[in-house]
Amino acid sequence: MTSPASSHGRVFALLSCKGGVGTTLLTVQLGRLLAERWQLNVLIVDWVHPFGDAALLLSTEDPHAHLGDLLRQPERLDGALLDSALLRPHPRLAVLAAAEMPSLPPPLQLTTVQRLMALARARFDCILCDCGRQLNPPLLALLQDADRVMPVFQPTLAMIRDARRLLVALLEAGIGPERVLPVLNRMDPRHQAPLDLLEQVLGTRLQHRLPEHPDFAVPLPHPQGHPWQRTLVRLAAALVRQPEPPDAASGILQRWWRKQWRWNPPTS
Ligand SMILES: Nc1ncnc2c1ncn2[C@@H]1O[C@H](COP(=O)(O)OP(=O)(O)O)[C@@H](O)[C@H]1O
Ligand SMILES: [Mg+2]
Repeated sequence: MTSPASSHGRVFALLSCKGGVGTTLLTVQLGRLLAERWQLNVLIVDWVHPFGDAALLLSTEDPHAHLGDLLRQPERLDGALLDSALLRPHPRLAVLAAAEMPSLPPPLQLTTVQRLMALARARFDCILCDCGRQLNPPLLALLQDADRVMPVFQPTLAMIRDARRLLVALLEAGIGPERVLPVLNRMDPRHQAPLDLLEQVLGTRLQHRLPEHPDFAVPLPHPQGHPWQRTLVRLAAALVRQPEPPDAASGILQRWWRKQWRWNPPTS
């Protein structure tokens, strides 16, 4: 399935090949970048269960409701209910916190998941989904509808093996390679397998490779000037298929650029 009509937001789903690969960090930093630098309206949905922590990285507030609350009342799920559940750490960035109770998994009904995503697409330019390691049928359907699916992994033997398994699973689920954008995190070219070997093993190009960042803390700063940040900017630009926008200070240019983005949707 390809993405829907031009007025609809684009969905980018990030998946972990293993716990701790950096999927949540990448989701929230990409969200901040697209909201602050690209001036897009961004929603982050934390599908991780149990113990999703995307909201915690972005806000110190407690949400009024979380993903599990919305999924438990499909008959009431509308734009107002969605809006009321969102934390807004930035005027253009909203986050729907992960389901709260570790012992009570959120009821993932296919129709409710699709309804939630349709509401999100109608309200936001970009929806970033932190999907963790889950590949259950409703989340697979979400991936099948997503504009880009981004498996995140690190260059260790076990993670490369899992990345390969995940890429095969995505292919088998009918998600074409043109929509899959693997992200290699914590790459250190001095110590690790050569890139061409990794690409050969995984059977795909690895265009997006984030280096180690020495200085991550919560709340997350923008690590300006570091190769990590430059790589993240390139990744964000590839997702929205637009070059880096002009500096935030130039308001008219920013508004012009934003309209261009909305009026020139991608063809696939
Ligand atoms: N490129 C990186 N450089 C340094 N630390 C990183 C990098 N990517 C992730 N981390 C650290 O790895 C830890 C796990 O990241 P997280 O995003 O929570 O992983 P996941 O969501 O995949 O479980 C965090 O403490 C994060 O700061
Ligand atoms: Mg996580």
